[in-house]
Amino acid sequence: MEKTFLMVKPDGVQRNLVGEIVKRFESKGFKLAGAKLMVISDDLAKEHYGEHKERPFFGELVDFITSGPVFAMVWEGEKVITTARDMMGKTNPLEAAAGTIRGDFGMTVGKNVIHGSDSPESAEREINLFFDNSELVSYEKQD
Ligand code: CMP
Repeated sequence: MEKTFLMVKPDGVQRNLVGEIVKRFESKGFKLAGAKLMVISDDLAKEHYGEHKERPFFGELVDFITSGPVFAMVWEGEKVITTARDMMGKTNPLEAAAGTIRGDFGMTVGKNVIHGSDSPESAEREINLFFDNSELVSYEKQD
């Protein structure tokens, strides 16, 4: 079954949005396979966002994502990668549709509440960066 990596960013944790965000994916019917509250190291942040390292906002991005706890998660289900991206909304919360997480809760492109893998390749890479296999739980879930 397809898996994706989702992370409530420091702004989302500070604004008490962890429960609301978990609820949306639970209510949709996806299965939680792993989750942890953690502070990302500088090295992990640079590795995770490596594809953006030439962008002018890279320093700001790394500083922000390491500025406080994030809630890292692995979710599982059919088409979970693209469906989670749809549920998150556009990267810029001011362009994200109402009803999406960023559309409902975000105001700036930097502090946009949540990160989600954008492809099967990045999902695999990001899950392996953030979680040991032993931290992921495999179980049956009723529909
Ligand atoms: P995310 O999905 O975590 O992936 C890369 C992040 O870069 C993106 O969400 C935004 O939060 C961030 N980002 C994109 N453009 C900018 C920008 N112009 N300034 C600051 N951060 C940005």
